[in-house]
Amino acid sequence: MLAKVSAIVLIAATCIATPTPNKAVPYSWAVHNFNGTCSAATCWAWGFSISSPIGPSDQPAFKAIDCSLDSRINEHQACRDVDINVPGSVAVQIDGASQFGGLLSVQYTFQQGPIRYTYYGNYSVVRCGDGVQPDYLQPAEFSIVPHAVSAVGL
Ligand SMILES: *[C@@H]1O[C@H](CO)[C@@H](O)[C@H](O)[C@H]1NC(C)=O
Ligand SMILES: *[C@@H]1O[C@H](CO)[C@@H](O)[C@H](O)[C@H]1NC(C)=O
Repeated sequence: MLAKVSAIVLIAATCIATPTPNKAVPYSWAVHNFNGTCSAATCWAWGFSISSPIGPSDQPAFKAIDCSLDSRINEHQACRDVDINVPGSVAVQIDGASQFGGLLSVQYTFQQGPIRYTYYGNYSVVRCGDGVQPDYLQPAEFSIVPHAVSAVGL
C-alpha cells in the first residue's frame, strides 16, 4: 500500500510544469492534442497531430493529423493523413515508454529537387494522473525544435 502511494506521489511530482523559455525559435513543429492510453504500469498507444508552416530554409509546410503509434513496436511508424506538397512523410516513435511517459521522436522527410532531407526532433512527454482511466499526458500542446538534419542525393 505504501509503495503504491509513493508511486502516485512520484507521478504527481514529475507533472510540475517546467516553464518553457520564451525565446524565438528558427524552425519548429507544433504538436496538438497529444494523448496516450495508459495502465497503472505503462503507456502504449499514443496519438497526436503535428504540423509546421514553411520553414526558414524553405522546408515545405506539412500537416499530419493522425499520428497514432504503439510504443511496444520498436521502430518509427508513419503518420496517416499527411499533407505536404512535395513527396514526403512524417514518422514517429516513443522511446523508453513507461508509466512516467517517454521520449517522443519525430522524423520529417521530404524531397526537394534532387535531395531528400530528413529532420529529426524529439520531446520528453510526461504522464500525469493516478493510473485510473481516463489518464492524460502533459503537455497536450507543445512544439518540437528539430536538432539534426540529413541530406541524401537521389
Ligand atoms: C488522440 O490523438 C489522435 C490522433 O490525432 C486522435 O485521433 C484522437 O482523437 C486523440 N484522442 C483523444 C482522447 O484526444
Ligand atoms: C533529443 O533532442 C536533443 C536536442 O533537443 C538532442 O541533443 C538529442 O540527441 C536527441 N535525442 C535523441 C535520442 O534523438
